[in-house]
Amino acid sequence: MACCAGGGAPVEDMQALAISSLSAADVDKHYEHLRELGKGTYGKVDLMAHRTQGTKMALKFVTKNKTKLKSFLREYSLTASLSCSPFIVTVTDVLFETEDCYVFGQEYAPAGDLFDIIPPQVGLPEEMVKRCMQQLGLALDFMHSKGLVHRDVKPENVLLFDRECRRVKLADFGMTRRAGCRVKRVSGTIPYTAPEVCAAGRSEGFLVTAGLDVWAFGVLVFCMLTGNFPWEAAAPTDAFYEEFRRWQKAGCPAGTYPSQWRRFTDDALRMFRRLLAADPEQRCGVKDVFCFIKYTLLGELRRRASCRAKRGERAGSSGPFVGGGGGGGACAAPPAVYASSSASASSSSAASSSASRSGLRLSEPVAAGPLGPACMKRTVLSDPLSPRDESPSPGRDKTKSQMLMATAIEICV
Ligand SMILES: Nc1ncnc2c1ncn2[C@@H]1O[C@H](COP(=O)(O)OP(=O)(O)O)[C@@H](O)[C@H]1O
Ligand SMILES: [Mg+2]
Repeated sequence: MACCAGGGAPVEDMQALAISSLSAADVDKHYEHLRELGKGTYGKVDLMAHRTQGTKMALKFVTKNKTKLKSFLREYSLTASLSCSPFIVTVTDVLFETEDCYVFGQEYAPAGDLFDIIPPQVGLPEEMVKRCMQQLGLALDFMHSKGLVHRDVKPENVLLFDRECRRVKLADFGMTRRAGCRVKRVSGTIPYTAPEVCAAGRSEGFLVTAGLDVWAFGVLVFCMLTGNFPWEAAAPTDAFYEEFRRWQKAGCPAGTYPSQWRRFTDDALRMFRRLLAADPEQRCGVKDVFCFIKYTLLGELRRRASCRAKRGERAGSSGPFVGGGGGGGACAAPPAVYASSSASASSSSAASSSASRSGLRLSEPVAAGPLGPACMKRTVLSDPLSPRDESPSPGRDKTKSQMLMATAIEICV
């Protein structure tokens, strides 16, 4: 598959893929099923190995009762067209359907997804976070330069090729849409959802903009650095979001940092302030983060905690979430809060206020009460019971499993 530099046919026209039907039995004949790699809202991903060559491949199964053929082909062709970026997962030319699913092949990411390696309530070592920021920033910038918005940026959709994050790739383009189009709001929100989407009514929907990815990327960076969500939802009903919002509205004054943000350096806070600007017009572009990578993002004590975590001395933490697909990790220990020299800005930071007079930029973590930050768990963007399309696949012939083999076509996005 080649990637067209610009212009070209609209995404919807990409169904002009040349498809020739083959028997799905051919996959069985050539590939051995090894294990399930993950589960999402719309299906599952299996690991397969070529019977003679041993080459591994990930097969993504998307259930027909939740996804139309048009949407499936859009996901496949979008992924194929973006695969020329070294930071975006590559598809294979395996494309077929079974009775219940549409299926396509992807390169196998042997180290799983980013969610699995983030130690809860501790976060990843800063240098690993920066490697992810760099590579994912380039992946998103590439998409945005083509007028596409991912719309589901989160650790579960970041695939790893090694556990040190030297090679990571953005995946799952099932929600990707063109910037500028209007989409219906899906039910529910996740912590990565931008405030303008949380505020949008169900009926009128909202406009797709690159800013949605920038916001989600900001939340993702917070999650990687801390092992917590900054809030459950970017909505006025959320105490943590409101605390952050009040601080932003006040012009982000130094010394009155919201409780969850005291662990960061001033440089990191400047970056978050730009990535997480509530007004989408004020939000920066994703590549604006690159200039912050050279700065230290975490304060000294937090970095020491993360080094201890790296050595396996993870006191008070429940250990890394184990993967295994969509279940959501259990949060055994209360989350940690880091206190600073500033006074507590709201009730939700009460847990840290007693330790907040030390005069240090950061102090040792203290256990949070019931108002502690939201524990990270796997998330889904929409209600699992509602399809990602308005209507599922129209009555297709389910009598036979077919293989739809895409030939080498240049797809323009
Ligand atoms: N190519 C791959 N290599 C290894 N694991 C994968 C691969 N693709 C997906 N996974 C795993 O499967 C999970 C679900 O895949 P994803 O494409 O995100 O499906 P969904 O659209 O249902 O969310 C991912 O979170 C990841 O853990
Ligand atoms: Mg996914």
